[in-house]
Amino acid sequence: MTSSTSSLIPVLTIDGPSGAGKGAVSAGVARRLGWNALDSGAVYRAVAANALEKGVAAEDADRLVELCRKLPLSFEAGDSSIVVFLDGHPVDDRLRQEDVSVMSSKVASLPAVRAALLDLQRSFRCLPGLVADGRDMGTVVFPDAQIKVFLDASVEERARRRYKQLKEKGEDVKFLRLFRDLEARDRRDRERPVSPTVPAVDAVIVDSTDMTLDEVIEKVLSVVRQRV
Ligand code: DC
Repeated sequence: MTSSTSSLIPVLTIDGPSGAGKGAVSAGVARRLGWNALDSGAVYRAVAANALEKGVAAEDADRLVELCRKLPLSFEAGDSSIVVFLDGHPVDDRLRQEDVSVMSSKVASLPAVRAALLDLQRSFRCLPGLVADGRDMGTVVFPDAQIKVFLDASVEERARRRYKQLKEKGEDVKFLRLFRDLEARDRRDRERPVSPTVPAVDAVIVDSTDMTLDEVIEKVLSVVRQRV
């Protein structure tokens, strides 16, 4: 499919900071619409996991770019998140581990890696439509998307949600530590020179601080209905 025909395929981009609930909202909206889903954070996480496995350093842009060429990734909108498959096998557990999170943030800061992953991310734009979850979906990867949402929530609320999740998993976490880590990560993501986490000029900003997941999904669906 040429880029001029693929640009007719509807895309909903959902960008925003860590912990705003993008994954759950994107999966819920994609399921309701019957559209495809792309978790772009998982794309960076997959490169990071592959680099760790092969002993490639976070500074070795050339070898990282090579890894970007061989990523047989696919996605499915699950009940509460976008499920990630590598070579047809689910890989969420590995991709969410701490060493992969740290490495993914380093590889995502390299412009050569970001450029090498553009075509792969755009290849998920297939009929009947795509819900793309990330940081730069509406600004860089799909600037011509028909519908753009920037999903935000206060740092306190995002830290509270993360705290609850980790506690439920039995992890020993401190709220203040989570809060400060989130604040620092927000600042790094917003101020980085390549693809900072900022709303596209034509994005609808949805603040989920005082909303339930279902309310956010309904709100995003109403934005989609107005535009498509
Ligand atoms: O959303 P996440 O935590 O799964 O993302 C993993 C890393 O990739 C995180 O450091 C942010 C980065 N990322 C990015 O730079 N651009 C995207 N479109 C998605 C994620």
